Amino acid sequence: MATPSSLLIRHARILLPNGELMTGDVQIRDGDIVQVASEISSLDGDANDREIDANGLTLLPGVIDPQVHFREPGLEHKEDLFTASCACAKGGVTSFLEMPNTRPLTTTQAALDDKLRRASEKCLVNYGFFIGATAENLPDLLDAHPTPGIKIFMGSMHGPLLVGGEEKLEAIFSNGNRLIAVHAEDQARIEQRRQEFAGSIDPAIHSQIQDNEAALLATKLALKLSQKYQRRLHILHLSTGEEAELLRQDKPSWVTAEVTPQHLLLNTSAYQQIGTLAQMNPPLRSPQDNQILWQALLDGVIDFIATDHAPHTLEEKAKVYPNTPSGMPGVETSLPLMLTQAVEGKCTVAQVANWMSAAVAKAYKIPNKGAIAAGYDADLVLVDLENYRPVLREELLTKCGWSPFEGWNLTGWPIVTIVGGQVVYEQGKLNTNVRGKALTFDPD
Ligand code: DOR
Repeated sequence: MATPSSLLIRHARILLPNGELMTGDVQIRDGDIVQVASEISSLDGDANDREIDANGLTLLPGVIDPQVHFREPGLEHKEDLFTASCACAKGGVTSFLEMPNTRPLTTTQAALDDKLRRASEKCLVNYGFFIGATAENLPDLLDAHPTPGIKIFMGSMHGPLLVGGEEKLEAIFSNGNRLIAVHAEDQARIEQRRQEFAGSIDPAIHSQIQDNEAALLATKLALKLSQKYQRRLHILHLSTGEEAELLRQDKPSWVTAEVTPQHLLLNTSAYQQIGTLAQMNPPLRSPQDNQILWQALLDGVIDFIATDHAPHTLEEKAKVYPNTPSGMPGVETSLPLMLTQAVEGKCTVAQVANWMSAAVAKAYKIPNKGAIAAGYDADLVLVDLENYRPVLREELLTKCGWSPFEGWNLTGWPIVTIVGGQVVYEQGKLNTNVRGKALTFDPD
């Protein structure tokens, strides 16, 4: 493990916690930000191990990606914790929260401990792992630690992780008080629609089988149960205008929601261009859904952004629908995608930083992350908001080796990524000696 050290970042455009940009310096020592000022001379008697001249670059809090599928253990042919964390470092993602649909499923403390041990050995960035709900593992759900919360697949999942039906869901919502994160799609409706569309091999049908109604039904049920028990609820990857409007009308203070860049920036027209690579759950929707989701994000109805990084190999994606797996990679492209939106006037850089870092830290009660201020962890990313570069397949580090955004010309690419005060990525090069830490979560 690399030893902690001190680092001085000079002449950066620093995004301050109040959303203003200030040109100045940031001093880091032993993994923490110790000073932010317009000019810092080296601290007393402290020979800085390193100075970075960040002239022309913008310094943002490192991205916390709160929904990823990194496939280890059990599905390492798609991705593993090392390759995924390399992709994170390149994408400015300094922390991630990973989902339980690995093999074995992360439904016990032992499985959670195994993931934490693997991550401590090979992850270049900070990590946290959800505990997955089954119909039977309530004791595990109550006691598991450390974990950002309980993940429930209400639909679009096979095997024990599928918890459909109000009664089983109610048993989880009514016990304990830790955060419940739901993949909200109604399994009964999906199954019925699957029969109606049986025989079709057009991947565009995916958005009709798992339609807006399937998402809305499940989100309504999750909200109902959350309201009944005043249970902390997070709605993962909100995908439809209908769900956003529902939340706009009545969103309890203890409910949060996220959206993916895919659901903001891609829609059903993507099937024509990239076929099954556009297949994910919940599926891509219409341009009108894109618009309503954007507005909900801008208005604070949706709280933050997650990628749902869900890699599958090109070979798997080359099968014929519906035998193709759902999911797309995302950690390498999410920050430049969103910063490009900011540079092009859709939102501000401060909003992007909030949606991709501060708001996530707040929702999951991750202490000392999400801001550039003295006392915060030095998880940072220096981005270039002046130049554009395309997403190129040959440059991707995710093991799956493709992106739905290939060819998109983006700005805001990370130039330097810092995890716990250590430079983990710089100008196209990784420092694979850096290791992240297990995230901690303050109690509810
Ligand atoms: O598209 C998806 N793929 N959505 C999910 O919720 C699961 C994921 C996966 O693990 O492949």
